Amino acid sequence: MPDRSFVKPAVIVALAVTVVLCAARADAQSAPPAGAPAQVAICAACHTATGNSTNPMYPILAGQTARYLYLQLKDFKAGRRHDPSMDPIAATLSPEDMLALAEWFSKQKPMPNGFTPDPAKVDAGRKKAEADLCSMCHLGNFSGQNEIPRVAGQHYAYIRKQLDDFRAKRRTNDGGNMTSVAATLTDAEIDNLAQYVANLN
Ligand code: HEC
Ligand code: HEC
Repeated sequence: MPDRSFVKPAVIVALAVTVVLCAARADAQSAPPAGAPAQVAICAACHTATGNSTNPMYPILAGQTARYLYLQLKDFKAGRRHDPSMDPIAATLSPEDMLALAEWFSKQKPMPNGFTPDPAKVDAGRKKAEADLCSMCHLGNFSGQNEIPRVAGQHYAYIRKQLDDFRAKRRTNDGGNMTSVAATLTDAEIDNLAQYVANLN
């Protein structure tokens, strides 16, 4: 039997480093930016590495509160919130991963969402938001705080879908806050609110 102990740990380390470097080069386009947690490479496919998604069905994560982002990831993993894209991804994340990802995306600068609003609907949405006291929880201009999300400048289509989902109780991880707010909204009111909030920054 040949003695394999001649393979020194230093050689193994050098080989491992070579493999990692090759993998990094092959994957250069989806490599996360410096300082980002490694899993950002997975998120980037839909949310982009800075959380400024361009597809309006993928929420903008940039500038969202870290606490809210962490709680959503935890809820997807625990099965309290469901999405066919997010469920299998969240299932692979540890609490430490979730905290690091939430921290990363919360620190990124949100970019304009590119939505062109209808001024009359924006105005109607602003009046409805005032009448329903949305700012009591989301603060003025929907800037968010801790576990209450920032919604200002979020994608119009995503906001509409969430209000629809809360109303139909397809999304119920909100401690009853949003399902009761949304319960009596009409389709037109949801449209107006989404137009107004997507237009805030
Ligand atoms: C294949 C596409 C896809 C990938 C990859 C993906 N997401 Fe998502 N993500 C979505 C979609 C779609 C939603 C919206 C679900 C809904 O409509 O309720 C979402 C929602 C979220 C939310 C909730 C945001 C909010 O405003 O409530 C968080 C947080 C999130 N994703 C984080 C991540 C992180 C972190 C990663 C990488 C580890 C990731 N996502 C990877 C598609 C994706
Ligand atoms: C009583 C407090 C409260 C009020 C009032 C309230 N919200 Fe919320 N809202 C929340 C909480 C808490 C969440 C996060 C739920 C969760 O953790 O899943 C939320 C989530 C949302 C979301 C989903 C954001 C995302 O990124 O997925 C939207 C959109 C939203 N609210 C819009 C509104 C609008 C529009 C109004 C007024 C018509 C309103 N909210 C009034 C507490 C409130």
